[in-house]
Amino acid sequence: MKCCIVFSSCTGNTRKVAEAIAQGTNIPCFPVQNAPAPQTYDMLALGFWVRKGLPDTRSRRYMARVYGKHVFLFGTLGAWPHSEHALHCLAATRALLEDGGNTILDAFLCQGRVNPRVVAATQRKGTHPLSIERIHRLHEAARHPTTEDCATARHRWQQALQSVQMHTAVFL
Ligand SMILES: Cc1cc2nc3c(=O)[nH]c(=O)nc-3n(C[C@H](O)[C@H](O)[C@H](O)COP(=O)(O)O)c2cc1C
Repeated sequence: MKCCIVFSSCTGNTRKVAEAIAQGTNIPCFPVQNAPAPQTYDMLALGFWVRKGLPDTRSRRYMARVYGKHVFLFGTLGAWPHSEHALHCLAATRALLEDGGNTILDAFLCQGRVNPRVVAATQRKGTHPLSIERIHRLHEAARHPTTEDCATARHRWQQALQSVQMHTAVFL
């Protein structure tokens, strides 16, 4: 079974998770800009960062080219990973991939430090007021992805891999 990891990352958070998933394996790991065509693989781990409530544009473009594959999703965002905002983003991502006949094996989201310039821009525009809750969330996001986030992502990816390998063995 041919697998690969493809990730999109602007400031390095999603890259960190992708590299943790790939570490110690011989599974190739590509930034989405240099990723080979998805059809070369049977199973893909697809990593994205959340922009305006959806996966960033580059990762969405790549996802739209993925058909009939086993997919493990991972992503980073500024919001809480179990918030409605995060769940909505995941649902939209799943729908996009399921429309292409893909099977989503699992999805892992964690927080990632938000570029302070982006925070300052939202302040200037007045789109996201700096409430106490937001300050706390951004402060927490700045610690992520943590070693624990990376270990969890890695564990979940390995479980997804094993489930496909077992399934493939049963049907051979
Ligand atoms: C332009 C822009 C838009 C963003 N929009 C969202 C958003 O809608 N929801 C969210 O939770 N985080 C949002 N974020 C925060 C990023 O998703 C988060 O910092 C992520 O970890 C960045 O990943 P990267 O370092 O791999 O690029 C946004 C960040 C930027 C720069």
